[in-house]
Amino acid sequence: MQSINELIGKVERYANTIVQREFISKKNTVAYVFLDGKPRVLKWFAPAFKENMLKEYQVLKKGSSAVNMPHPYDIDEKNNVLIMGYIVGENLCDLINDKDVSFGEKQRLIMLLARWFAGFHSFFRSEKGFLIHGDPVLRNFLFSDRVWGVDFEESRVGKPVEDVAGMCASVLSTNPMFTVDKFLLCKTFIQYYKELVDWEVEDVSQEVSYKLLEKTRWRPEQEAVLKKYAKSITEQGLPFDSL
Ligand SMILES: Nc1ncnc2c1ncn2[C@@H]1O[C@H](COP(=O)(O)OP(=O)(O)O)[C@@H](O)[C@H]1O
Ligand SMILES: [Mg+2]
Repeated sequence: MQSINELIGKVERYANTIVQREFISKKNTVAYVFLDGKPRVLKWFAPAFKENMLKEYQVLKKGSSAVNMPHPYDIDEKNNVLIMGYIVGENLCDLINDKDVSFGEKQRLIMLLARWFAGFHSFFRSEKGFLIHGDPVLRNFLFSDRVWGVDFEESRVGKPVEDVAGMCASVLSTNPMFTVDKFLLCKTFIQYYKELVDWEVEDVSQEVSYKLLEKTRWRPEQEAVLKKYAKSITEQGLPFDSL
């Protein structure tokens, strides 16, 4: 993974950049910086992911006035950099998995997250169907006084249940994995999302199972446990479903 300093060092436009922090990222180089004195996030895409950058830019441009997502200030197509506003907040993955955060607080957060998805899906609903986030993992959400979504490079037309189930798979499979509390948080998330929307959300359990299996591709060391829960969810549904 390259460092943002390589970009700053070679492109005149970024000469006046002070790096505050680089984020953990699998694909891209993402950093919180001061660019000409202003707080910004630079997301530097590899050349092969230019289409993803354009996609993310379009989604942000259209949605950021209505849905909690960063404002896209600029796009630098020559160097494949998306320049967006910086969101002050804690990562939802850290909060949901923090043993010092109460279960009640986690439930409040997961309801705000369900509300975020209901808002996103409603806003991006069109005659073509729904636009979904496409990479629904806890890491892509931040919390300050509200929940904010980031990382729209994989947004695509799809079924809302894919986002809902993907989110549950992320909740269940981040450490601590598959605890009772995690299943209860999923239950709250699904129930509340369904209350908020006026479209059908079907086969959530089946979809969660499928999303868990998908994760084995990137996490071979957890293959056994992911498969075990995927199988049990396929056969018996999500626990607490009938509560
Ligand atoms: N606008 C932003 N404000 C604050 N933090 C951000 C912003 N955009 C991204 N991040 C942080 O950087 C991380 C990586 O960015 P992301 O767009 O998810 O890249 P990747 O595609 O590599 O996952 C995110 O998980 C989030 O913690
Ligand atoms: Mg991400």
